[in-house]
Amino acid sequence: MFVCVCNAVSDHQIIDAIDEGACSFEDLQDNLGVAKTCGTCSCEVKKLLSEKVEKSLASQCFQTVSVSQAAPI
Ligand code: FES
Repeated sequence: MFVCVCNAVSDHQIIDAIDEGACSFEDLQDNLGVAKTCGTCSCEVKKLLSEKVEKSLASQCFQTVSVSQAAPI
């Protein structure tokens, strides 16, 4: 499905870009050109980024908590 109609960018392309290291809205704008024309897609791009980053952080969170708990303060 196209998320950014102005630049013909699909949700799959956005997810792939995030998987390849894009970690901010600005990264996606720079890499894919999303939300740089009319801006209508901004909310959907941010939603996809947020969902994907939350999933990624959730999987890393346990490791981060484990490391921080191991080191005495
Ligand atoms: S729909 Fe993305 S900039 Fe217009």
